[in-house]
Amino acid sequence: MATTQGSLFPMIIFFIQVIAFCSFINGSNARLTWKRKVVVDQSGEGQYRKIQEAIDAVPKNNLEPTFILIKPGTYKEKVTVPEDKPFIILSGRNTSNTIVAWDDSGDIYTSPTISNTYGKGAKAVALRVSSERAEFYACKIISYQDTLLDERGSHFYSNCYIEGGTDFICGNAASVFQKCTIHSVSNHNGAITAQRRTKAEENTGFYFVDCKVTGVKSCTLGRPWGPYSRVVFIGTYMSSAVNPHGWDDWEKPTTHSSVHYGEYKCYGPGSNRSKRVGWSQSLSNQEATNIVTNAVTTVKSRIKQCHLHSTSKDNGAITAQHRMSAKDNTGFYFVGCKITGIKKCTLGRPWGPFSRVVFSQTYMSSAVLPHGWDDWGKPSTHGTAYFGEYMCYGPGAERTSRAKWSRTLSNEEALPYMSMKMMDGRSWVMA
Ligand SMILES: *[C@@H]1O[C@H](CO)[C@@H](O)[C@H](O)[C@H]1NC(C)=O
Ligand SMILES: *[C@@H]1O[C@H](CO)[C@@H](O)[C@H](O)[C@H]1NC(C)=O
Repeated sequence: MATTQGSLFPMIIFFIQVIAFCSFINGSNARLTWKRKVVVDQSGEGQYRKIQEAIDAVPKNNLEPTFILIKPGTYKEKVTVPEDKPFIILSGRNTSNTIVAWDDSGDIYTSPTISNTYGKGAKAVALRVSSERAEFYACKIISYQDTLLDERGSHFYSNCYIEGGTDFICGNAASVFQKCTIHSVSNHNGAITAQRRTKAEENTGFYFVDCKVTGVKSCTLGRPWGPYSRVVFIGTYMSSAVNPHGWDDWEKPTTHSSVHYGEYKCYGPGSNRSKRVGWSQSLSNQEATNIVTNAVTTVKSRIKQCHLHSTSKDNGAITAQHRMSAKDNTGFYFVGCKITGIKKCTLGRPWGPFSRVVFSQTYMSSAVLPHGWDDWGKPSTHGTAYFGEYMCYGPGAERTSRAKWSRTLSNEEALPYMSMKMMDGRSWVMA
């Protein structure tokens, strides 16, 4: 199934959606409760009236996923998710009625992006995200310039609406935008993104998957705030507001060889690449797949304290991790999770030959089959796939009948997958 062009993305997107869905379920369903769930409601029916108050109440160096549900309303506030507060999930129920807007033109954040290239735009950040991990669902973020300062960390935006003038999605985070609408109010080719990757080694970039780009007049997709600026649009609709040249070099031709501006399978009148700047790229299927896989695993794979519930009736695998070579820094790591199921399931099967999945300190109900892992009828992967378990418990965690090619990790082997250094995204397990 993993070999045809069409089947790769849906699988990855499906993975994202499952997680997104998981967040919604957990946020709203009393059966699966978050350790910390708070409600922000302007009308005073929740614990807080302002989004920032809810974020401020999260302890520093937070390790508990914290779900902040924002009730409908227009929140006229400048929201900051600080660096020392990871695992915050902000969710509206409906993009059209949960709005974070900021229209003050005061000097709120002195950003070097503002060089008045496009007239005197107001500096106004509606949302500043510096936390190592943060997720946003169904939020509408509106401001003029620098709407979303996606400063640093790994972030995930799903079903959001983001509107602004120039450089309105900027910063040096590694972020995936899935099914978001990006709306430019620029009158003359204002850049949507100003991604700030400064070195080739940095693992950052903005990845737009299945999004929609619209505008009132004309806009470009991005310009390089940093010399290694990386922005990719995949499967995205582009209206005629997108300038045929597509990308802008901010009058720095030296960046032509260092930036990475890619497009893959975009559609709509603004997506025609025949007049695009020569230093932007049309991605191959393989490149796009690698980018999405890597971006998604970087942003999403360190799942902590999640409840995985399998509804498989025929021994379905929970994971199908797609690591293709021993050099890929990818994998799915589950720490302190809980696995249940209605019938029987396995923990994973190798979508890629070097598939890597580790469960540590995870409860496994009897739904997990004794052999635990499935080789997808490819015994050749026994020597390459890395399927590990560490200190798991519960009736499904017994390893005496486990597939021999899966492994029980020693303390030493498990450590890299559990350390907070890795969990908080500052470093990554090297292959
Ligand atoms: C979202 O909110 C708008 C405006 O309040 C409403 O018209 C629409 O039906 C809502 N959509 C959903 C899916 O609830
Ligand atoms: C793209 O634009 C070129 C030149 O304007 C045109 O010849 C071509 O048919 C267009 N391609 C698509 C797919 O619309």
